[in-house]
Amino acid sequence: MNTFGNSFVHQNAETFIVQNSFSKVFGCVSLIFFNDSIMENFMELHSAPDLPWTIFECWFALAQQSEPSNPEAMTLATVDADGVPQVRIVLMKDIGQDGVVFFTNSQSTKGQNIAHNPNVALLFYWRSLDRQVCINGVASPIDPAESDRYFASRSRISQIGAWASQQSKPMQDFSVLQAAVAEAEVCYFSADVPRPSHWFGYRVVPNRIEFWIQEIGRLHQRIAYRREDTSQDSWVKQWIFP
Ligand SMILES: Cc1cc2nc3c(=O)[nH]c(=O)nc-3n(C[C@H](O)[C@H](O)[C@H](O)COP(=O)(O)O)c2cc1C
Repeated sequence: MNTFGNSFVHQNAETFIVQNSFSKVFGCVSLIFFNDSIMENFMELHSAPDLPWTIFECWFALAQQSEPSNPEAMTLATVDADGVPQVRIVLMKDIGQDGVVFFTNSQSTKGQNIAHNPNVALLFYWRSLDRQVCINGVASPIDPAESDRYFASRSRISQIGAWASQQSKPMQDFSVLQAAVAEAEVCYFSADVPRPSHWFGYRVVPNRIEFWIQEIGRLHQRIAYRREDTSQDSWVKQWIFP
């Protein structure tokens, strides 16, 4: 796994934030690998990192320091069988060149949507940084052993909840959920809670990743990375009008 998570430490976040606007796009990459005099060249596309992960890693590390809560929260957009879009927040649990992982109940609305149409969009917005990252890709279930490992790491009450909640289904009363929790607690009393087979992780393999950074006068900076062959970590960069 390529978890950046809490292990990715950015040492120069404060210095970074006061850099000029050109350097902001490439963030700590520039601070780590280049000195100030080279930063003026960043308007040239070839100066951007070849891999979008490099920018994401850097921005996420900054967000971990500056966001008041859940920097790993991302909006997940899916479409239903009629092509009607739906959005909700999920937590990113892993990201790297293999893709972006989140966990959920596959019987939920989002799970059903993905089963019908695996094309999804993800959006990170970090208000403290005035930045967004938009991702398009294709979602598929991760290896069951990987889901088992993550499920085992969750708190017991979250594990119980995965059994008790029929996510996205209508519920007559909150007491129905409370009763289902009590039932699951009795069922797994003094035993490990196994992962429900319908609860697992999805990996979104991106084909497009766009980085957006707010600038004065709405002259925002946008750079999009695209790839045709998702089996290769090889990307084409493109500046986009704001
Ligand atoms: C900050 C935050 C994090 C969330 N993380 C998850 C998550 O990781 N997985 C999940 O299934 N739902 C998560 N939810 C709940 C979803 O937004 C959503 O309500 C739920 O998954 C049902 O969505 P659906 O009916 O569209 O399938 C989170 C909500 C918030 C506000």
